[in-house]
Amino acid sequence: MDDIRIGIVGHGFMGHEHEKMLTKMDGIRVVGISDIDPKQLEDVQEGIKRYASNDELMHDPEVDVVLIAANNNQHYDLVVQAAKAGKDIICEKPVAMTTEELDGMLAVTKECGVKFTVHHQRRLDPDFRTMKAVFDQGSLGKVYSIKSGLYGFNGNMHDWHVYKKEGGGMLYDWGVHLLDQILWMMPGAKIQSVYADLRNVINFEVDDYFKILMRFDNGIMAEVELGTYYLTDKMHDKWFERHWMIGGNQGSAYVDGFEPEGKIVRTTHLLQNVSGQRTMTAAGPTRSFGPPAEGTIVTEPLPTVPTCHEDYFENYKKAYRGEEEFLVKVEETRRVLALMEAVRESARTGQSVAFE
Ligand SMILES: NC(=O)c1ccc[n+]([C@@H]2O[C@H](COP(=O)([O-])OP(=O)(O)OC[C@H]3O[C@@H](n4cnc5c(N)ncnc54)[C@H](O)[C@@H]3O)[C@@H](O)[C@H]2O)c1
Repeated sequence: MDDIRIGIVGHGFMGHEHEKMLTKMDGIRVVGISDIDPKQLEDVQEGIKRYASNDELMHDPEVDVVLIAANNNQHYDLVVQAAKAGKDIICEKPVAMTTEELDGMLAVTKECGVKFTVHHQRRLDPDFRTMKAVFDQGSLGKVYSIKSGLYGFNGNMHDWHVYKKEGGGMLYDWGVHLLDQILWMMPGAKIQSVYADLRNVINFEVDDYFKILMRFDNGIMAEVELGTYYLTDKMHDKWFERHWMIGGNQGSAYVDGFEPEGKIVRTTHLLQNVSGQRTMTAAGPTRSFGPPAEGTIVTEPLPTVPTCHEDYFENYKKAYRGEEEFLVKVEETRRVLALMEAVRESARTGQSVAFE
């Protein structure tokens, strides 16, 4: 079977990651790379073309698929250019800055009859897939709450990510992944309302903190929180925290870290209260928040879910040949963008926003 021949546009952080991964994969060949900054092409691997322009890449008959890994505000023009050159397209997330832009991309890619998908490889993150497996098993009973949090402690946002016109800000950067994960976890559920706080803690132009609450029609309240500047000195070798919690009426599950460490936790008397011991704290005595009596809390291991980011391209190879569906459908990424627009509106008005 012929290799799928890919040209990468943009050889920055993500362009390098793609080059590294794809050059090791069977069935895919990285033909060449372009970048508006020629310096970025200096370390392109031997045997891969360095194009003098995007146009040269787009019109190279050896390229089947254009993989767009340039700044967010470049995606629209590049998708349109690639579609008009008859190339199939994988675009980095966020696929577009707005739903309006994405609708334009969809019209052109449809008209040109090219395949179009988005690189949302965080659908394959082990922490997320573990929690999705717990959710899908239904073993927590009726789930009422899902929390997904990511916290950075190094006080760092870099390069164009601090500029609004380049598509900077944490909502576009990580929010798009974190929201996509929640929506993909419960594909059939509709979001009734969204309430969000979106802040510029230290950045002038772009958001660097958000908390997003989504009320779903299946009764679940999902919360996504990201803090870029929760400064702390408690971490020694790890400068972020990743947390998940799912609460159901027959148990809870938690995960800490991208390499999921956590448990399913239940009481030995399901659906009954476990009486806490009277506990003295500096804030006075408590029973509700004291430790449970010995033996009343039991734990189970989390399911093990084999997953890795290469699987995104393993799926791509099969979907490209029509053997299965693309993991990421552009309509799904449109829903995420629409949700991000509702998030911005809620944050601006301070009101919850009806959605779907
Ligand atoms: N899926 C993920 O996990 C993930 C992770 C990081 C970044 N990204 C996405 O990848 C894209 C690039 O981000 P990055 O962190 O690699 O940024 P970066 O700044 O490190 O790299 C961007 C590169 O694109 C080049 N570029 C800009 N405009 C161009 C144009 N019109 N044509 C050709 N080259 C152009 C720049 O010169 C630069 O080399 C963004 O859309 C970002 O959201 C995705």
